[in-house]
Amino acid sequence: MNKSLFASLVLAIASPLVATSVQAQAFGKADDAIQYRQGAFQIIKAHFGALQPVVKGQIAYDQAAVLANVQILDQVAKLPWKAFGPGTEGGDARDDIWLDEEGFKAAQKKFLDSLVPLTAAAQAGNLDDLKKAFANTGASCKACHDSFRD
Ligand code: HEC
Repeated sequence: MNKSLFASLVLAIASPLVATSVQAQAFGKADDAIQYRQGAFQIIKAHFGALQPVVKGQIAYDQAAVLANVQILDQVAKLPWKAFGPGTEGGDARDDIWLDEEGFKAAQKKFLDSLVPLTAAAQAGNLDDLKKAFANTGASCKACHDSFRD
């Protein structure tokens, strides 16, 4: 039995409160969930940020490179959300995430939906559409941070 599984079993037996916190257990403990989601956001930032010099015209538009980047962004964008389960309050996450689950879900959806036209523009190799989609996605990051991140 690995150490973290053993630790979660001990916690589950010792505390009925922890036993209800299925998500936190899936990550071993809340700190693991916080590190996981912060790590995912760092990767999101790297791959979203890599598009910035392209849309600003600071580097040449390389369709294959942009598409590869957007595809990674698309995948990693799915990751942070399951690490906001019950009992994982902390990091820079505002308590509003757990008080307003609907609002937080809506902000996730806005972000994930914004990646559809971004991916389409990257696939089509349309720089104008890419610029618009990039701005939209950026606005969805900011909207969520304004409401849900300290
Ligand atoms: C639905 C809400 C939401 C969306 C959308 C969102 N974020 Fe975040 N982001 C958060 C929350 C909440 C945190 C704080 C997580 C924590 O500290 O536990 C965070 C943290 C971060 C961090 C800091 C990670 C760290 O190391 O502490 C970065 C960087 C980041 N987000 C970038 C982005 C970028 C770039 C986008 C869009 C491309 C984005 N986020 C979209 C909610 C969101």
